[in-house]
Amino acid sequence: MLEIRYEMTQHKKDKPDTKNLGFGVYYTDHMFVIDHTEGIGWHDARIVPYAPLQLDPAAMALHYAMESFEGLKAYRQPDGSVRLFRPEKNGERMINTNHRMCLPALPAEDFVQAVKALVKTEEDWVPSEEGTSLYIRPFVIATEPHLGVRPSKTHQFYIICSPVGAYYSTGINPVKIFVEDEYTRATPGGTGFTKCGGNYAASLISQVKAHDLGYEQTLWLDGVQHKYVEEVGSMNCFFKIDGTIYTAPCVGTVLPGVTRMSCIELLKKWGYTVSEERLAIEDVMKASRDGKLEEVFGTGTAAVISPVGELRYEDEVAFINGGEIGELTHRLYDTITGIQWGKLPDDMGWTTAVC
Ligand code: COI
Repeated sequence: MLEIRYEMTQHKKDKPDTKNLGFGVYYTDHMFVIDHTEGIGWHDARIVPYAPLQLDPAAMALHYAMESFEGLKAYRQPDGSVRLFRPEKNGERMINTNHRMCLPALPAEDFVQAVKALVKTEEDWVPSEEGTSLYIRPFVIATEPHLGVRPSKTHQFYIICSPVGAYYSTGINPVKIFVEDEYTRATPGGTGFTKCGGNYAASLISQVKAHDLGYEQTLWLDGVQHKYVEEVGSMNCFFKIDGTIYTAPCVGTVLPGVTRMSCIELLKKWGYTVSEERLAIEDVMKASRDGKLEEVFGTGTAAVISPVGELRYEDEVAFINGGEIGELTHRLYDTITGIQWGKLPDDMGWTTAVC
C-alpha cells in the first residue's frame, strides 16, 4: 500500500469543450509521481500539480529509449460515479513490459491504487458527454544521467490524465488500413509484446507511408516471413471469415491488449469460435475474393472497437462489408462500451469503482 503525499495546484485550468476533445490534446491539473532508486526501491509517492519535467539532458530515457507506458480509461457512469475498466490487467502488463526492458515495475496493486488516487483527485475532469472518457497514461522513465549503455539506477513512474473523445477522427466509421510488407514492427525475442515507446517510434515510417497513400493505419505482418497478420499501429486486429473469428496469437510479437482479451472472452461467451492460430494475409485476401471476409475490426483502449472498411495489400484492395460497420463489430462495440459507461450490467465483473 502506497503512502501518497498531496500537493494541490493553486491554478486550476479551464475545462475544454467536451464536444471537441480529440485525443490526447488536453491534460488535467495534477499528476502522480513516484521515484525508484537502486538499493532503496519505490519511494516518495505524490500527487502534484501537472507541470513540465525537470530532467537531466543525459537522462538515459532520452538516449536509449529506456521507458515504457500503459493506457487505460476512467468512465463517467449514468449515476455520476466513475469506474475503471480492468486496471489490474494494465498493472500486470506493465510488469511484463518492464521486465523485458530492465525497468522497475510497481506491484499491480500499487499501480491500481495510484491510478485510483489520481482519478479521484481529477474527478471533475472525467467527461460525461457521449463517447468521451478520461484517458490515463502511466509511464516509467530512466532518469539517471549516464551515457554508458546499461540499466539505469534511478527511475520515475508518472501518471497523467487527458479527457478524450474518439481516437480516430472517423469515430465509429470504418478506417482504411494499409498492409505493410516492407518494414517490420516486431520479431521473435524482441519487444513486440511490450508497451515501450520504441515500438511506436519504429512504426511511424509506415504510418506516414500509409497516410501518403490515403490510409489511416498500418497492418503489420510478422517480421520473419512478412506473411502472417499481426497488429495494427494502435490496435489488435480481428477478422471474421466465414463465421469464424481470427486474431493473431500473443506469442511475443503482438501486444496482449486488454480490449483484445475482453473481446475474445465475450465472443466465446456468445458461442463464436475464436482462432488464435496464425493467419496469412494471402488467406485474408482470398477470403475477400471468395466473398467470405465478413468483418475486420481493431481493438484497443484508445481505439475501443474500430471497424475496418478497406484493406490494401500490394496492388489488391479488399472492401469489407460495403465499407459499413459489421453486425458483430457493432455488437462488440455496444457491449464493451455499454459495460464501460455503465449502460449495461457488468456481468463479467470487469469494472472497478473509483468514486
Ligand atoms: C492505447 O490504446 O491505450 C494505446 O496505448 C495506443 C496508443 C498508442 C494511443
